[in-house]
Amino acid sequence: MTIPIPAEDPRHVPNRAVIDPSAIAQNTRSMGTLLGDQTALMAVVKADGYGHGMLTAARAAIEGGATWLGVAHPASALALARIGLDAQILTWLYEPHTMREVLPEVLSSGIDVSVGSLEMLAMVAEAARQADRRARVHLKIDTGMGRNGVLPWQIRELGAAMREDDFIEVTAAWTHLTSADDPADPATDQQVELFDSACAALEDEVGPIPLQHLANSAATLTRPDLHRDIVRLGIALYGYPPVTTDVPLRPALTLTSRLAMVKEVPEGHSIGYGRIRRTDRRTHLGLVPIGYADGLHRAASDRCEVLVRTGSGDRRVPQVGRISMDQIVVDLGPDTDARAGDQVFVFGDAGGDPNAPAAPTADDWAQAAGTIPYEVLTSVSGRVTREVRS
Ligand SMILES: Cc1ncc(COP(=O)(O)O)c(C=O)c1O
Repeated sequence: MTIPIPAEDPRHVPNRAVIDPSAIAQNTRSMGTLLGDQTALMAVVKADGYGHGMLTAARAAIEGGATWLGVAHPASALALARIGLDAQILTWLYEPHTMREVLPEVLSSGIDVSVGSLEMLAMVAEAARQADRRARVHLKIDTGMGRNGVLPWQIRELGAAMREDDFIEVTAAWTHLTSADDPADPATDQQVELFDSACAALEDEVGPIPLQHLANSAATLTRPDLHRDIVRLGIALYGYPPVTTDVPLRPALTLTSRLAMVKEVPEGHSIGYGRIRRTDRRTHLGLVPIGYADGLHRAASDRCEVLVRTGSGDRRVPQVGRISMDQIVVDLGPDTDARAGDQVFVFGDAGGDPNAPAAPTADDWAQAAGTIPYEVLTSVSGRVTREVRS
């Protein structure tokens, strides 16, 4: 008889991404305190809620006051619409094949869609006819990101085409800022100037635009003048403000593992592929069964730390040598009471004694790897079991 063993049965692997929805709800509330009554809060829950689980993140953000949800993919928008959340949904990234497949259902479900070209408009209008329902369109303006969006000088043509089509309802005009995480960068003001003049031209064509939105987390924290009708918040809701702030925000994802073994090695012992590290004294090495296939960045090798919860307390210890696919090694020091089975916090909130050292953050890992916390959070791979704290 063959007994099927799931490839990654969570009972056989200690690694967990522990999600705290109350942190997302509280972060949403905290960000909401910055907003005037006229500004709604859109929780950006794309990329599976920045790695936290899209539905978990969406529910928590709504509990914290979000009235909009934003996702890149139409399929994500449909998944949100199907569970009947009390929020308006916007989706913005699709191509013709996907459009033909899912757009009629997207529009029938009352989801708002972004349009940034005449071609996209034609596809949305056709889907709206199929769905026999007016499409609620957010017109995306490319003010410098160079990704999707109409160029400002082409807006009148697109506006006129929208005005002529009874199946199109212009709900909003929007753009995305390239450099809001650097408040000193003049690019933001240049983008705002382009956006405002494009909106004025659009209003000439289609009449008053009900909603405008352009602020992400960084702009929401630093530029109240850019809040407009909706702010689109991602990273701040997950606890990682991209600019220095007094707004209390806490990480919502904690990545944990357990020590698989502890062994004493002499001075000069080499560790990992390429032997980039040798012990500089007699010490104890701890093996942790989590690696780059779980989402750790190999570029952070030998440059970051983890928190180990031993019998006598929490200790920050360095990760040493190259990060492997399934494992890392940490230096526990010459004298340690760490044992196989002890919990390891790779990053996040260890929730221990406030006087004990805190766990590293996704920001610490990002700095070690030369990237951003967005990438660290969304890299935690599908083989890591998500556990939602209740
Ligand atoms: C279009 C759009 N709006 C808003 C956001 C949220 O940005 P942040 O996570 O910096 O708040 C993103 C994220 O990349 C985005 O793509």
